[in-house]
Amino acid sequence: MGVRYLSNMDKSPPKQLLESIYQQLLPSLQIESVNPRNPIKVSYLPEPWQLLGKGNYAAVVYHPNHPESVVKIYAPGRPGYEEEVEVYHRLGSHPAFSECFYAKDAFLVLKRLYGTTLYDCMYLGLPIPKQVIQDIDKALDYAQSRGLHPHDVHGRNVMMHEGKGLVVDISDFLHPEACSKWNDLKKAYYCLYLPVFYPLRLRVPYSVLDMIRKCYRLGTSFKTSCLDIFTGVKQW
Ligand SMILES: Nc1ncnc2c1ncn2[C@@H]1O[C@H](COP(=O)(O)OP(=O)(O)O)[C@@H](O)[C@H]1O
Ligand SMILES: [Mg+2]
Repeated sequence: MGVRYLSNMDKSPPKQLLESIYQQLLPSLQIESVNPRNPIKVSYLPEPWQLLGKGNYAAVVYHPNHPESVVKIYAPGRPGYEEEVEVYHRLGSHPAFSECFYAKDAFLVLKRLYGTTLYDCMYLGLPIPKQVIQDIDKALDYAQSRGLHPHDVHGRNVMMHEGKGLVVDISDFLHPEACSKWNDLKKAYYCLYLPVFYPLRLRVPYSVLDMIRKCYRLGTSFKTSCLDIFTGVKQW
C-alpha cells in the first residue's frame, strides 16, 4: 500500500521515527481486538515505546525520542483505517484536533494531543469547566463546516487540557448517520455533573464508569429497537 496521505510535508515524521516504527514497533507489537465493543488488548509493546491509549479499534503509542508525535495502529481485522485517513485529509488544521503527518500500512502518525480524556477526568476527579464543553462544541461545528459528520463523540474520544476541550478521535466522522452520544453526554454534564459532581469533586471508579458505559449502550440499543419497530427504518 502506498502512502495514502502526507499533506503536512513540512511536518512529515523524521526518518529515525519511521525507522523505529518499521524496525522496532511493527515487527513485535502484539495487539488484538477481543471484542469490538471494548478496548483492544495490547499483549506486547517493545521498549522504549509507551502506550498512550487504547480504543475499540486501535492502540496509540509514542516513542520517547519523538514525544510530539503519536502512532495509531489499528488492530488486525478492525475496520476504519482508510476512513480515518480521509477524515484527517478533509479536516485540515484546527487547534482542537490532531493532524495526520503520515499514513501507511494500517498506521497513522498523528500530532500528539496533551490532556486527559473526560472519562479519565471523572475517574481522577478533575473538575471539567464549561469551557471544555463549549470548545468541543465549536470544534464539532468546524468539522461540520468541512463536510464531516461528528460521530462517536464520547468521554474517551474527547480530552481536557489546561481548561480547553479537544477532540481526539475523529475516525467515524464520515458516517452520515445521526449519533446522539455527544448530545447525551452534554445533557448528563449540565443536568448531573455540574450540579452534583463538580461542586463535590466526586471521583467515579472505573468499574462504575464501565457500568454506565454498558447501561448507556443497552439503553441506546433498546431505543433503536423500539424505533425500528415503530418506524420500520433502521436507526443509528
Ligand atoms: N493524537 C493523540 N494524542 C494523544 N493521545 C491520543 C491521540 N489519539 C488518541 N489518543 C489516546 O488514545 C486513545 C485511543 O485512541 P482513539 O483514536 O480513540 O482509538 P479508537 O479509534 O480505537 O477509538 C484515546 O482515548 C486517547 O487517550
Ligand atoms: Mg476512540
